[in-house]
Amino acid sequence: MLKEKIYIASDHAGFNLKQKICIYLKEKNIIFEDLGTNNAQSCDYPDFAHLLASKINSNCFGILICGTGIGISIAANKHKNIRCALCHEGLSAKLSRQHNDANVLALGGRLIGIEMAINIIENFIQTPFDGDRHIRRIQKIEVD
Ligand code: RB5
Repeated sequence: MLKEKIYIASDHAGFNLKQKICIYLKEKNIIFEDLGTNNAQSCDYPDFAHLLASKINSNCFGILICGTGIGISIAANKHKNIRCALCHEGLSAKLSRQHNDANVLALGGRLIGIEMAINIIENFIQTPFDGDRHIRRIQKIEVD
């Protein structure tokens, strides 16, 4: 993995997939911290997006999961230090690292299974940023 640590969080709709991903990360000896939610009881995805966003720095990645990945990625991307990519397959995850220097990955717990999630995560955490012209484009993303 390219970073020291992964922070992971979900709402209730992403809880089952999050638990399976945590088992995978543990098996792979990848250092991670689970920020919740801790059960399948209904909760609000922005709370977990904001909590995870507050932990992210240049030494770590984040993984966020809600039902579709849409709400939680929209919330995460409100933070200036976050570039959150919602991915449903591995190539998007790879390109989000190469071209966008994405630091948070969003997944849809109601849309994909653990095998696809692992493929996406591996592409994300193993792919370096390409730099070069993409630096200028990333710098242009921020407004006010
Ligand atoms: C929760 O029912 C669901 O709306 C949420 O997990 C997410 O999919 C929102 O974008």
